[in-house]
Amino acid sequence: MADALTLSRPKTVEVGSVQISDVSKTFRVEGRTVHALDDVSLAIASGEFISIVGPSGCGKSTLLRFLAGLDGPDSGRIAVDGEVIDRPSLKRGIVFQDHRLLPWFSVEKNIALSLHSLAGSEAEKRERVQYLIDLVGLSGFEKALPHELSGGMSQRAAIARGLAPRPPLLLLDEPLGALDSLTRSYLQDELLAIWEREKSTVVMVTHDVEEAIYLSDRVVVMEPRPGRIAKIFEVSGKRPRHRDDPDFVTIRREITDLLAHRRD
Ligand SMILES: Nc1ncnc2c1ncn2[C@@H]1O[C@H](COP(=O)(O)OP(=O)(O)O)[C@@H](O)[C@H]1O
Ligand SMILES: [Mg+2]
Repeated sequence: MADALTLSRPKTVEVGSVQISDVSKTFRVEGRTVHALDDVSLAIASGEFISIVGPSGCGKSTLLRFLAGLDGPDSGRIAVDGEVIDRPSLKRGIVFQDHRLLPWFSVEKNIALSLHSLAGSEAEKRERVQYLIDLVGLSGFEKALPHELSGGMSQRAAIARGLAPRPPLLLLDEPLGALDSLTRSYLQDELLAIWEREKSTVVMVTHDVEEAIYLSDRVVVMEPRPGRIAKIFEVSGKRPRHRDDPDFVTIRREITDLLAHRRD
């Protein structure tokens, strides 16, 4: 199939670069025109970790849905590795806050399903599923059903499922939003470890400024009505970052101030 993706993608191949050029989208809502995205442009390098923050309604999810190929802009262009996106693909893994594992299938089976249409032997796929289960810390829960898992565990299973086909581009829409703060900070470290190991490009929407700074190379701040990029912050410093580091505190204050001013 056109989406043939190999499980043995060499880590030296630079893939998953994103070019978003002059993207606009309006919706008609109850007779009014909503400018969900207005002339948004952003280039993301292969292997970069980008976070998008901004008040509700500024177009974050719309942009992520476009990157996933679930919907498209009225004007402008979105390409991954130079190829215009016009439909969903296994090359782009997506994890939503509301992750919806299939309730009647085990953890193992839920993850395996995302490998179904990929090239590769059954043995290779089984090995990949087990690798992912170990990676997200769910060893021993292979046969568990979704209702037997805690919120954090099922979110980890959903992340494993999103990662399984080794998508060069991983799209996360508030993936940790529903979790308690302890589980959340634990999963942030796990996400970082996974990103470092898998070398995927990550675009993550979050409402948590600290989470964005902790994880990302750049934090994109958006503003609503019309949905635009207000400012992009580069985060320097080696990971793991320290939340009380002076640079961390400064950038957090800058982003928080910007968000406070842009809110109506
Ligand atoms: N399918 C849709 N139909 C109508 N309006 C939509 C649709 N999707 C998004 N919108 C509107 O576009 C704006 C941006 O939405 P969204 O991208 O979900 O924002 P965010 O994720 O930043 O909260 C909002 O005003 C929202 O109501
Ligand atoms: Mg959203």
